[in-house]
Amino acid sequence: MKKFKHSYAKATAPASVSNVGPGFDVFGFAIDHVGDEVEARPRKESGVIITGISGNSEISLDPEQNTAGKAVLSFLESLNITQGVELYIHKNIPAGSGIGSSASSAVAAVVAVNALMENPLPKEELIDAALAGEAIASGGSIHGDNVLPSLMGGFLIIKDVELKKFHKIEIQNYLHFVVLHPDIEIKTSYARGILPKELPIKSIVEQVANSSYLIAGLLLGNAELIREGVHDLIAEPYRKGLIPGYDEVKTIALANGALGFNISGSGPSLFAICDSLKSAQKLSVLMAEPFNERNIKVDRVITRINHNGATVLDVRL
Ligand code: HSE
Repeated sequence: MKKFKHSYAKATAPASVSNVGPGFDVFGFAIDHVGDEVEARPRKESGVIITGISGNSEISLDPEQNTAGKAVLSFLESLNITQGVELYIHKNIPAGSGIGSSASSAVAAVVAVNALMENPLPKEELIDAALAGEAIASGGSIHGDNVLPSLMGGFLIIKDVELKKFHKIEIQNYLHFVVLHPDIEIKTSYARGILPKELPIKSIVEQVANSSYLIAGLLLGNAELIREGVHDLIAEPYRKGLIPGYDEVKTIALANGALGFNISGSGPSLFAICDSLKSAQKLSVLMAEPFNERNIKVDRVITRINHNGATVLDVRL
């Protein structure tokens, strides 16, 4: 029987870029510089309570309606732990931003609660609970392309999240990514709802070819393969209309040296793949212009792949 040994733990989990163009629900990678943090303390009583959330006043404190709370409820239940936990969430990633905000909170919460245990479980055994938490934000659908990179780190190909079949690939280290977050909110559940339920075989064939080219290009560092492969037929055509200036930003990125460009997750964040830090720095400024012109505030991150995933920041006896 698992039990708590520590009185306090704090964990962080990185933001992530999912889909990465053609890999809808399949490709995702963790990024540096931004991630939610969760503090956890055992309670004397049963049940999960959320004592507060910094950085966002709109997210529910009800654990059943909160991705971190739900993830921990699911985690405790799976381990038959009746003792409760209190959580404090530091929301550093804006909700509905397309860089795995809900996944990051769910992952950080489960990692923090796991760290309270006498014998913490390996990360692989935290996946189901984190997914149960994230499902709240995506209308009940289970997809692992934010949760898994946020938990495990790296660039992942997710074959079957429920069977925990995924593979971490080592992409070329010199590749940098620009991630732009225009300050508008797109709910994942809505952005999933507007996608077609079926695609013609011709499109499926093209999507398979694109995905194969992209992965080969990222592994080999072949710019041509990345450029040809990063296109998406499942989500981009339907979601880009939700992002003001999308086509303009894409044109600017591709005309100024980006190897690839697409929507991050369900948007509105966007990413460009760059062959150097210098190129990424230049692009991050240029790509922001269409948003500046529309008076839309935009945050910019330049990152390589974050290989660490979620980490425990502090544990106290
Ligand atoms: N693959 C998911 C989607 C990611 O595009 O709906 C959501 O963050």
